Amino acid sequence: MGFFDSLIRKNFEPLENLSGIVTDMHSHLIPGIDDGSKTIEESIDLVNKLIELGYKKIITTPHIMSDYYRNTEAGILAGLDTLRKALDEANIQIDISAAAEYYADFDFTQKIQKDKLLTFGNKYLLFEISYFSPPDSVEEIIFNIQTNGYKPVLAHPERYIYWHNKFEIYEKLKDRNVYFQLNINSLCGHYSLPVMKIAEKMIKNKMFEFVGSDTHNSNHILLIRESMKNPNLRKLVESGILINPDL
Ligand SMILES: [Fe+2]
Repeated sequence: MGFFDSLIRKNFEPLENLSGIVTDMHSHLIPGIDDGSKTIEESIDLVNKLIELGYKKIITTPHIMSDYYRNTEAGILAGLDTLRKALDEANIQIDISAAAEYYADFDFTQKIQKDKLLTFGNKYLLFEISYFSPPDSVEEIIFNIQTNGYKPVLAHPERYIYWHNKFEIYEKLKDRNVYFQLNINSLCGHYSLPVMKIAEKMIKNKMFEFVGSDTHNSNHILLIRESMKNPNLRKLVESGILINPDL
């Protein structure tokens, strides 16, 4: 086998681990405050599993959503403190911090003007929108985030199926400097086949600056191992466009 053959073959080999991503910036590991980890024991187990996958740093992002998860910034930081202490006692060494996954609802619009929101890296703000219907004005959400001094990172854009046949909306968001974060598990068809296909198209179009595990439970870790078999994940991790390693 010649040099180029082996190079081509290597590009299709599954990733052995996720050490090339370095930092996971989307997960639900603070126990009992959202639909993620339920107990401190489960949180410790999930952190251990993320370390086994190769991550060196974790930024966990509980939901803040007024209809379901009425979390506050202070509450999240208190939960982080508890988790750090438990990890310390269990002798687990990992750089762990917290931000939030903000749901872009009415309260969010009010909050962004008066509170200091939880961000990661250089003012990156992770936000999500409805899975069922498009927001009235996504432009207004973006404008609001940016004019208040934050950099918008749209969580799992591939999961908003109402935009699948309106790819120009994704392109418009990129033109407006919206960062996109892929969920790794979109690449094993966990959500649906169309979600996987659109995620692969976005990878080809170099639209993701961030990739996240969105870990809620240990089943997600098993699915990540499935997703690692998708050559598009290697392509993304080796593209050099991800910001995760610099966080
Ligand atoms: Fe999430």
